[in-house]
Amino acid sequence: MPGAGLILAIETSCDETAAAVVERGSRTLSSVVASQIATHARFGGVVPELASREHLRAIVPVVRAALAQAGITLADLDAIAVTSGPGLAGALLVGITYAKALAFAQNLPLIAVNHLECHIHAVLLNERESAHPESMVAQEPALSLASGLASQAWDTAELNPPSVELDTEPVLALVVSGGHTHLYRARRTAGAWHYTLIGRTLDDAAGEAYDKVAKLLGLGYPGGPWIDALALNGNPRAVPFSFAQIKTKLHLAGRAPRTKAARTAPIANLNPHFLFSFSGIKTAVLRYVELHNLRPEAESRREALFTGPDAPAQPTIEDALAQCDPQTLDLIASFQHAVVGDLMKKTFAAAESLGGRRILVTGGVAANRELRARFTSEAGRRNLRVSFPTLALSTDNAAMIAAAAWPRLEARDFAPPELSADPSLALGR
Ligand code: KG4
Ligand code: ZN
Repeated sequence: MPGAGLILAIETSCDETAAAVVERGSRTLSSVVASQIATHARFGGVVPELASREHLRAIVPVVRAALAQAGITLADLDAIAVTSGPGLAGALLVGITYAKALAFAQNLPLIAVNHLECHIHAVLLNERESAHPESMVAQEPALSLASGLASQAWDTAELNPPSVELDTEPVLALVVSGGHTHLYRARRTAGAWHYTLIGRTLDDAAGEAYDKVAKLLGLGYPGGPWIDALALNGNPRAVPFSFAQIKTKLHLAGRAPRTKAARTAPIANLNPHFLFSFSGIKTAVLRYVELHNLRPEAESRREALFTGPDAPAQPTIEDALAQCDPQTLDLIASFQHAVVGDLMKKTFAAAESLGGRRILVTGGVAANRELRARFTSEAGRRNLRVSFPTLALSTDNAAMIAAAAWPRLEARDFAPPELSADPSLALGR
């Protein structure tokens, strides 16, 4: 392995432009994330064309900031890594094109990684860094960019306790984000990671359900953090939402709705007990809202918080709380309780059936407080171990891209010059 094993990683698969420099997949020298939340918030979801445009504006300053914060230049690097899928085609292409150009100009190898694999490596990176705390990067100043891009500082405040070397044990990973709710068995053999798909959502991802329910209730985008905070003030048992057992045969026969992404992946060989579906609970919340005539209230909440003339520049959770009556807070708490309960039930059932002792929960929704608390206590009850990434590594970032790229650099597993975006790139068999 030449050099110090320094990888510059670039991530542009959705609505964060991110770059990071990580040494040997285990020491983060810098991690810069420019979020496009401000751009997409008023639409209540990511607008693909706007995402590509914002990536184009941010990519150069974000990469420069990552190099500067790491205190290195392009000449110090050993490889460039980039997310090649899954994600938004136009957004992925910005990162891929820039990464290719840098690799070509610097005569460096290019490493392509799967975004889902990277979420799993976010936890592995945390594990390695907490085993060697001296290697952790200090709190870095947030990157401020003009053009309405919000930014997120690198946070190392909340870390998993150091644990045994995770890399040798098979793990069950739940990747739960705005685009995915997937269960994988991950294992490292002969230096390379192998993944087997165990379960997945047939329609919406859990994060998507959070975002849609938040939009319906006149809350901000992305919905997860709002629902997470407001749920603390409601009764989680007030509305008894339930998840029906998934009828795989209907899905296989095409007689049940599946999203475009869900249609592309085979489910025939998966255990129906490990399949998820979140479109039903979204519809159940909608029905509850209509039945109890909560729509006008949600509309005035949206105006008071975001669209009205007196809306605060940056509404806080306290502002939102002041706009929510107890019935809405109970609805929010009950929705979250049901979603977390369903994620738990299937994840623990899969872990037990595979005989694994380790569970990783990763992706944007893994930032959720109720999820972390309930997974942790259930794991304790069952004598299993569960790990989460730090909050900064839960949502999209490029440090996790570099961490996933490291074993490929060691194996000299490089991307071909014709690398292109693969919006529905699958992970594992
Ligand atoms: O991993 P991520 O940043 O991007 C994707 O790859 O999708 O995940 C974003 C998703 C959004 O749906 C957002 O609402 C959700 O993660 N999210 C949360 C929380 N923070 C972010 N969901 C629940 N609770 C949170 N605290
Ligand atoms: Zn992600």
